[in-house]
Amino acid sequence: MTPQLVDPTTMRQTMGRFATGVAVITTESDGVPHGMTMNSLTSVSLDPPLLLVCFNHGARSATAVTDSGRFVVNLLSQRQQPIAMRFAKRGEDHFGGLGLEYGDHRVPVVPNALAHLDCEVDRIVEAGDHTVVFGRVTDVCTRDGDPLGFYQGRFSDITPHGAEPEHWFF
Ligand SMILES: Cc1cc2nc3c(=O)[nH]c(=O)nc-3n(C[C@H](O)[C@H](O)[C@H](O)COP(=O)(O)O)c2cc1C
Repeated sequence: MTPQLVDPTTMRQTMGRFATGVAVITTESDGVPHGMTMNSLTSVSLDPPLLLVCFNHGARSATAVTDSGRFVVNLLSQRQQPIAMRFAKRGEDHFGGLGLEYGDHRVPVVPNALAHLDCEVDRIVEAGDHTVVFGRVTDVCTRDGDPLGFYQGRFSDITPHGAEPEHWFF
C-alpha cells in the first residue's frame, strides 16, 4: 500500500485556501428531484464545452445524476447562501417548501441563480473517495449579480478588482 503522505484533514485545510464560487447541482431521477451544494466545479474544455464536478462517495445526488444522465449546474449569487446551506444538509428533503422551476430537459433549477448550465453526462471517472462526473454543456443562461464565495470552510464575498475584465481574457 502507498504510504499516505498527506492526511485528509491537511488536504482539506490546504485546499480550503483555494477560494471558489458555490454551485448547486440539480437533477431528476425517476420523477424525484435531487440537488446538492458543490464547490468542486471546474471548467475543463471550451470546444467542446466540458466541465467536471466531484461527488463524495455516498452523496445521494451522485447516483441520481449518473442514473438520469443529465444535470444542471446552478451558480449561486451572494444572496443565496441559505440555498447553499439547505442543499448541503445530509438526508433532508432539499426541495421541501421551495417552489420548483424546470429547465428544458425536466431538470429542476434553482430560481435566480447567476447561471444555469444544462449538462449531459459525458463520462464518469472514479478517483479516490470521489466520483468525478464530466458534463457536456448543452445550454446556458446567465443573469447579473455578485457571486457567493467559499474560502477556508466559510462562505465569503468575491470582490472584483478594477473596472474592466483583463484584456487577455476575452
Ligand atoms: C460550500 C460547500 C461545498 C461543497 N462541495 C461539495 C463537493 O464538491 N462535493 C461533494 O461531494 N460534497 C460537497 N459538499 C457537501 C454536500 O453538499 C453534502 O454532503 C450534501 O448533503 C450531499 O447531498 P446528497 O447526499 O443529498 O446528495 C459541499 C458543501 C458545501 C457547504
